[in-house]
Amino acid sequence: MFGQVALPRFDGVTGDEGLGEIVQAAVRSVNRAWRGKRAPEVRVLPHELPARTLPTRDSEPKKVPIGVDERALEPVLLDLFDADQNLLVLGDGGCGKTNLLRLVAEGLVERYSSDEVVFAVMDPRRTLRDVVPEEYTGGYASSPRVCAGLAGGVARELEGRLPEDGDLDALEPGAIRGPRIVVLADDYDVLTTAGQKPLAPFVPFVSNGRDIGLHFVVARRVAGAGRGLFDPLVQAMREIGTGALVMSGDRSEGQLLPRLYASPQPPGRGTWVARGGSARLVQTALRAPGGSHRG
Ligand SMILES: Nc1ncnc2c1ncn2[C@@H]1O[C@H](COP(=O)(O)OP(=O)(O)OP(=O)(O)O)[C@@H](O)[C@H]1O
Ligand SMILES: [Mg+2]
Repeated sequence: MFGQVALPRFDGVTGDEGLGEIVQAAVRSVNRAWRGKRAPEVRVLPHELPARTLPTRDSEPKKVPIGVDERALEPVLLDLFDADQNLLVLGDGGCGKTNLLRLVAEGLVERYSSDEVVFAVMDPRRTLRDVVPEEYTGGYASSPRVCAGLAGGVARELEGRLPEDGDLDALEPGAIRGPRIVVLADDYDVLTTAGQKPLAPFVPFVSNGRDIGLHFVVARRVAGAGRGLFDPLVQAMREIGTGALVMSGDRSEGQLLPRLYASPQPPGRGTWVARGGSARLVQTALRAPGGSHRG
């Protein structure tokens, strides 16, 4: 049967002009007039969550808060050096990837000293300049050629962290030689255009990341991700396990993670899957322009 849905307005107007505001006003006046028992308010994710509202390093000394979740508006924490190991961010243009990478880098710098963590920054569109303070910077590269050189250099350093006889069981748990190395790569799709693989030198080390202190934080578009996820580095990250955030994108790109498809989302919004965890909708925090170091 056909049905006709009523316009949700009772101000006598029959069109839909200004409907959003009218509905809001109507809800407000009903709310004011109601004297009976109230249902708990539905809490929804904010469209903008300022980074300064996240837990500070005093309450979260190890994990980096990146946003809040939909279920309880509880902080979402990235446990890069333990449970999550890596972070993969997928999202199309302007969805908030760079903002998130900056937030993660700043959160780590705030919580760890430069003896504990250094960064290798791969930044083809140069949107991560000045994010990592000099003493934390193991290397910065933007062109694929320089990225490849940097990756090769770091790989040689990693070689020295593996036991000479190749017996990984001989490595003492938690006894990493030197600071943890975080490979921070934005716009990975740009880095890998035309079949280039500048980060290929890392691939053999990904699976030993936990033992040698190697972590990847990689962002790329959703468009073309179907093919892109078979990139050897991303593939290796997924095999060993990674925290992942799927932000705005097109569903037609297919299944990006088990049972997870992209969909159009407002900036900063995405589905967060902790390594080995279940999926939940989150709003990532927005950094204040110019930096958010809470000295
Ligand atoms: N967490 C957030 N909450 C609200 N708005 C955000 C958030 N993150 C980003 N934005 C908005 O989206 C804009 C684009 O953010 P950002 O540059 O991080 O996106 P991007 O995915 O890196 O874009 P591109 O694909 O062009 O690299 C920002 O200028 C900001 O206005
Ligand atoms: Mg960006």
